[in-house]
Amino acid sequence: MARVLTGIQSTGVPHLGNILGAIRPAVRMSGTPGNDAFLFIADMHSFTTMRDPQVLRDNTYAVAASWLASGLDVNAVTFYRQSDVPEVAELTWYLGCLTPYPMLANAHSFKDKSDRLSAVNAGLFYYPVLMAADILLYDAHVVPVGKDQVQHLEITRDIASAFNRAYGDDTFVVPEARVDKEVMTVPGTDGQKMSKSYNNTLIIFLPEKELKKQVMGIVTDSTPLEDPKDPEKDNVFNLFRLLAPDDAVETMRQNYLRGGYGYGHAKKELLQVLMDGFANERALYQELMTDRGELDRQLQVGAAKARAIAEVTLARVRERAGYGARR
Ligand code: ADP
Ligand code: TRP
Repeated sequence: MARVLTGIQSTGVPHLGNILGAIRPAVRMSGTPGNDAFLFIADMHSFTTMRDPQVLRDNTYAVAASWLASGLDVNAVTFYRQSDVPEVAELTWYLGCLTPYPMLANAHSFKDKSDRLSAVNAGLFYYPVLMAADILLYDAHVVPVGKDQVQHLEITRDIASAFNRAYGDDTFVVPEARVDKEVMTVPGTDGQKMSKSYNNTLIIFLPEKELKKQVMGIVTDSTPLEDPKDPEKDNVFNLFRLLAPDDAVETMRQNYLRGGYGYGHAKKELLQVLMDGFANERALYQELMTDRGELDRQLQVGAAKARAIAEVTLARVRERAGYGARR
């Protein structure tokens, strides 16, 4: 059985792009028989950039609640918070000592981040080693990631191979990256790819008033209400078509082409589709966010499963590296 593992950053409340592009496909995949899926919230990676404890905590819960509200079944998937498995920090140290310094110094994402930031902490530099530990600790075979993470997977493979050469071939599973080229790109409210870095997101878990504000803020051109409009070029239509049933999309297309139908009308319809289409998710999300004890309990189920495996791997590494068993 293939173990499939991936980590999710906890840098904010997931937006529509995250949900359609990452959460839904992963929830579907995790229900596939033959996959032993591990999914965790990378809240220790977030500490490279987040300094407000309340925000750090809230984001982790928001991400957990979003996944659970989107249908993730904690009995089918090992779902946990990275920081609940302290073994990962110890493994990070051992791995780091077999990681060539230039490999980290030359990593694209480190170079990008260190060019952008005024203060560069060592955690940013060490980020890929923690990521390698996330993966190697659980003997993962396959790691689904976005293109931007492929180099981190190469680093993980290099570290695993170096360790295996030094301490025996069966110390670590050397994992494969899996990049899904088919994933859709959800456009943002300004037509660029939806991303929290562009400030162009729709966050379906927000209270209706705030979601409405985001929908009303979608950028449109200045074609007057009575004129015909090109649906293909409009951001409201392009979002609507991702979510609405075919006949409703067709009706809206005709409305655009005919004229006498304004962007305000289209935005109203889009908001309705968001509210109706995600009604269950929104309700569940609110329920979970107001009962953090329940969220903690669900995450603890995963943490216990994860730790049982982490302890075995770490004992193997310690033994081979020359440390004794822990009493
Ligand atoms: P952001 O761009 O908002 O920072 P992340 O890089 O944290 O989002 O992405 C987390 C996951 O969501 C990734 O798997 C990514 O591929 C997916 N994702 C993000 N934005 C979109 C989008 N606009 N359309 C489809 N998938 C997206
Ligand atoms: N760095 C990944 C990202 O930014 C998140 C992550 C952390 C991860 N650890 C991981 C992904 C381990 C896959 C496997 O998206």
